[in-house]
Amino acid sequence: MSETERTFVMVKPDGVQRGLIGEVVSRFEERGLKMVAGKFMQIDEDLAHEHYGEHEGKPFFEGLVDFITSGPVFAMVWEGQDATRQVRKMMGQTDPAESAPGTIRGDFGLDLGRNVIHGSDHEDPGANEREIDLFFDDEELVDYERIDETWLYE
Ligand SMILES: Nc1ncnc2c1ncn2[C@@H]1O[C@H](COP(=O)(O)OP(=O)(O)OP(=O)(O)O)[C@@H](O)[C@H]1O
Ligand SMILES: [Mg+2]
Repeated sequence: MSETERTFVMVKPDGVQRGLIGEVVSRFEERGLKMVAGKFMQIDEDLAHEHYGEHEGKPFFEGLVDFITSGPVFAMVWEGQDATRQVRKMMGQTDPAESAPGTIRGDFGLDLGRNVIHGSDHEDPGANEREIDLFFDDEELVDYERIDETWLYE
C-alpha cells in the first residue's frame, strides 16, 4: 500500500485568470485528496527563481519567471495516499497538447507555456517537501480528519 503524503500544487496565473481555481480544487476534492493548506498570493521574482531553480539557464527560463510572476496564483498542499504521483497523473503531461483528455492540462490547456497548473515532481524525491517549505510556514498546514476518510481507505 502506498504512503500518505503531502504534495504542493498551484493554479498558475493563466488558470486563475481563466476562472479555473474552483474546477481544479473540485477535481482533487472529489478524488478524495484532502486540502491541508491554501493561499491566494502573487509570486515575486526571488520566489520564482527559487521555485524554478532547476530550469535556470534554459532558454525558456526568463519567460517562465515572467509568466509565473505576472498575476496571482492559488498555492495549495494536498494530502492523501500516493498524493504526489496521483496529482501528477491528474494534471497530465507538461505540454497540454500531449495531455490526455480527462486530465487538467488536457481539458483546459493548449500551449506548453500556459499549462494551468503546477504540481511537485514525483520523480524528484524531496520536491514536495522542498516546495511546501518554500510556499508555506509550518503553522499554515492544518491537521484534521475528513469525514469520508473511513470510506475512502480500506
Ligand atoms: N521546452 C520548453 N519550452 C517552453 N517552456 C517550457 C519548456 N519545458 C518546460 N517549459 C515550461 O516550464 C515549466 C516547468 O517545466 P517542467 O519540466 O518542470 O514541467 P512540469 O513539471 O510539468 O511543470 P511545472 O513544474 O510547472 O509543474 C512547464 O510547466 C512549462 O510551462
Ligand atoms: Mg516541474
